[in-house]
Amino acid sequence: MIPIAVVPVAGLGTRLLPATKSQPKEMLPVAKKPVVQYVVEELEANGVKQILFITGRNKSSIENHFDFDHELMRALREGGKEDLLAELEYERMRMQFFFTRQRRQKGLGDAVLCGQYFTQDTPFVVALGDSIIGLRGESRVVQRMAGIFAAEKASCVIAVEEVPLQSVASYGVVKRGAGLAGGAFVIDDLVEKPTPENAPGNLAIAARYIFGPEIYPALEKTPPGKGGEIQLTDAIRILLEGGKKIVGICLGQGERRYDIGNFESYFEAFIEFALVECPHLASRIRMRNNENH
Ligand code: UTP
Repeated sequence: MIPIAVVPVAGLGTRLLPATKSQPKEMLPVAKKPVVQYVVEELEANGVKQILFITGRNKSSIENHFDFDHELMRALREGGKEDLLAELEYERMRMQFFFTRQRRQKGLGDAVLCGQYFTQDTPFVVALGDSIIGLRGESRVVQRMAGIFAAEKASCVIAVEEVPLQSVASYGVVKRGAGLAGGAFVIDDLVEKPTPENAPGNLAIAARYIFGPEIYPALEKTPPGKGGEIQLTDAIRILLEGGKKIVGICLGQGERRYDIGNFESYFEAFIEFALVECPHLASRIRMRNNENH
């Protein structure tokens, strides 16, 4: 088990404008809960006890969301709305939250570097605050990754998922090497947002990582890459070139990655999660459409 996680939530979310003009994309709802609540609940279920959020301007609602709201609780209790009170149960989770700001949005790699003085020389999880793993966010992949990290004495373990070759340009993509115990494999190479022609395969990095402290000197050495940003993928490549062991593990069944970073995948996630809450919705909408035609 790895008890410390860094959750970067400082990105500008420009692909989701205007929805993200004055609210964090990580706070957009997917059915009943904001994206980042699924991420935090997943981390708690995987043994994480402390989370450092890397935040930015306009992100204070994330801090408020995980704080106790005594006034709201009192109002619900006095109004006899016990059922709604249950919706705030997550506030009681045994998790300590920490916050620091990435002052300039210089990329995911730079955001992770902001966690250096928090994690010091211990291994830590990185979970992107805009990606849910599995319907309802009930994945145990981080636990499996922690086991592999220890067993393989790796410098980094990365969760990956197969994507269609024509969509690799949206992801970091890894090259699969020799197989290891437990379905894991050595990563021989990785590239940030390659073209399908230059991609080393179709295994995309899926928003969950475990790092040892050696990632920090690699990040400090990483020059700006794709989009002028400090790319986490490029720093991992520096580790690889330095002979460090980088290991991949595929998401399992029922552990699809829901990326909330663009409208199409956000809508897809919202609809799927909403249908779990209200399974009758699809037939109701279909019936209404039939009546209108
Ligand atoms: P994205 O790569 O989707 O970037 O971030 P973005 O800036 O949020 O979105 P666009 O491209 O402008 O639409 C992936 C994760 O990394 C965080 C984001 O908050 C998100 O959770 N991130 C990204 C940072 O914390 N800092 C950064 O500088 C960039």
